[in-house]
Amino acid sequence: MERKKFLTVCGTGCLGLMVAPMLLQSCMSTKFIAATLNGAFLEFPISEFIESHKEPIKYRNYVITYHEKLKYPICVYRISEGEFKALLMRCTHQGTELQVFGDRLQCPAHGSEFSNLGVVKNGPAEESLRTFPVEVNQNLIKINLS
Ligand code: FES
Repeated sequence: MERKKFLTVCGTGCLGLMVAPMLLQSCMSTKFIAATLNGAFLEFPISEFIESHKEPIKYRNYVITYHEKLKYPICVYRISEGEFKALLMRCTHQGTELQVFGDRLQCPAHGSEFSNLGVVKNGPAEESLRTFPVEVNQNLIKINLS
């Protein structure tokens, strides 16, 4: 094998070894929840935000919830104890489903970026994401879809 080809193959392999665990880690840490539709409310247990029960309890920053009747999933951020933000994962530019990366949502189509409050951080999107009121009742997260 030529030296240049050998270095290219080795470089690509090393890059793959470095990137694969990061991609796996981001997928593994995202919690997806099949929620229950109860009238106008999408519901799931608030305990889904608990990542570890070991003291001190560790909470997830967000979960992604979905229901077969919804065209797009909803990302629910835990802003603080008792404060949540539910964002429809639909890009306001041309409707592509967004991807979540920590505290921001990114559009794979043209690169728009939104904060965990749904505010546009980078265009071409100009409008904020659709949000839904969230209430906590009897240990359930209740997202008001109406
Ligand atoms: S559809 Fe999302 S940036 Fe264009």
